Amino acid sequence: MKVLFVGDVVGSIGRKMLIESLPALKAKYRPQLTIVNGENAAAGRGITEKIYKEFLQAGVDVITMGNHTWDNRDIFEFIGNEKIKMIRPANFPEGTPGLGYKIIQINQNKIAVINVQGRVFLNALDDPFRKMDAILEEIGDETNCIFVDFHAEATSEKQAMGWYLDGRVSAVVGTHTHIQTNDARILPQGTAYLTDAGMTGAYDSILGVERHIILEKFLTQLPVRHEIPEEGRKLLSGCYIEIDDRTGKATKIENILINEDRPFGSDY
Ligand SMILES: [Fe+2]
Ligand SMILES: [Fe+2]
Repeated sequence: MKVLFVGDVVGSIGRKMLIESLPALKAKYRPQLTIVNGENAAAGRGITEKIYKEFLQAGVDVITMGNHTWDNRDIFEFIGNEKIKMIRPANFPEGTPGLGYKIIQINQNKIAVINVQGRVFLNALDDPFRKMDAILEEIGDETNCIFVDFHAEATSEKQAMGWYLDGRVSAVVGTHTHIQTNDARILPQGTAYLTDAGMTGAYDSILGVERHIILEKFLTQLPVRHEIPEEGRKLLSGCYIEIDDRTGKATKIENILINEDRPFGSDY
């Protein structure tokens, strides 16, 4: 199973970069499954149904979310739809709309895609470690190809989840910090691991947000309203993973980082 993952798409500039880059990424990696984190797709705040459809049309198979899941009220109109190809962190309290994981059939194979959120420097959701145990028990023998988007702030919590799930899932990829880490590896029991996939959006920004606004916040300590640049240089971050369909173990993980300094196809 070949999986392409793209990290937090931020605003219209991020959506543009994703849609522009997907054909070349798909031609290079030939993924059977393309997963994109869309928690910041609508001007940095959540996702709308229109954007959700736009992503599917562009060739995205599953959208994962995070702490910004509920920022755009539009989501309540469509997240409850049974056929939705979008998941939100599984460890939101019982009864929260939407699903925390999905099992997807690709030809004869199945892959489970799970979204779970950390609790360090983020809202205190249910325990993501225990939630993973419960989900893995639910999945049982249905598939051993399992991809986890662990949406968390602290690198320690992400590494802890990677080690906790080593040998029990195929991949643990972090999202949320918007900065890609250079630690892609396969853990000893066969789980592909990357602390953070990074973001997709404005390259000359601060975590995807207009940089003068964030600078003003640091300089004045006054509240500011985040704006996402609509124009300018773009960045796409993510990773590519190969999983042995028989064992569910990862055989390859590779960072993907595309920007003007590292153009697509360049040997960096
Ligand atoms: Fe994000
Ligand atoms: Fe986030």
